[in-house]
Amino acid sequence: MTSPSSLSVVIPAAGIGSRMASDIPKQYLSLAGKTVLEHSINAFVDHPLVQKIVVCLHPKDSLFDTLSIANHPKIIAVEGGDTRAQSVLNGLRFLQGHVSTDWVLVHDAARPGLSQKALDRLLAAQKYSAAILALPVVDTIKVAESESEALPKRIHTTIDRSHLWQAQTPQMFQSQRLLHAVEHALSQGLVLTDEASAIEYLGDDVLLIEGEAANMKITRPEDLALAEFYLRQQTIAREYQ
Ligand code: CTP
Ligand code: MG
Repeated sequence: MTSPSSLSVVIPAAGIGSRMASDIPKQYLSLAGKTVLEHSINAFVDHPLVQKIVVCLHPKDSLFDTLSIANHPKIIAVEGGDTRAQSVLNGLRFLQGHVSTDWVLVHDAARPGLSQKALDRLLAAQKYSAAILALPVVDTIKVAESESEALPKRIHTTIDRSHLWQAQTPQMFQSQRLLHAVEHALSQGLVLTDEASAIEYLGDDVLLIEGEAANMKITRPEDLALAEFYLRQQTIAREYQ
């Protein structure tokens, strides 16, 4: 394994937030005094190990340049793609061409509540292998019968949840390996909703490192109040440190 000193971050931020249905993409909504995207970037920007942060933007994005953080020397904006995986791929290709980095972290723009503690837990896994933050599933999981699209659906079966984890981000990989994995998976027609699945497809190990509830992904309007609550809690905790 290489030294932990060479580390960059890719933040896919090119989505339109269709489930949020707000006037502007959810990464630009304001929470606890800053945009969601600024909170997500701030988790990394002052971290001593982080070299560069590549933010993947929608081709028609007009808001990123209005953020003061856009001018930070660690931050580079690139164009995203039609899917999250394509946006990440653009970011990884940029890194390969312009930044010499052994490790890469991929983190959703829509997760503003990542704490330094959880990030450091993930980084500590570098000495073993690739790793992601994740949480054990707490609800009982049902599989619906697939014959019809009509609602309500009938339960087909119940899954044993004792081995189930809900993937979060950041997800951490050796950068060359992740670039190869994502290119390979997309060329095989796989639909990727995270990066670990591309690495799993190659047969490599990926560790599950315990994440945290505050690192939730903002998806629907009802998520905003809870995300804001977590952000304010973190601010209070920092003030009392
Ligand atoms: N993302 C991206 N490029 C895309 C689609 C998504 O960079 N073509 C990013 C989003 O900006 C977000 C992250 O991937 O930070 C996770 O995606 P998701 O929560 O699904 O965001 P959206 O795709 O914007 O939301 P929705 O699926 O509701 O439209
Ligand atoms: Mg999406």
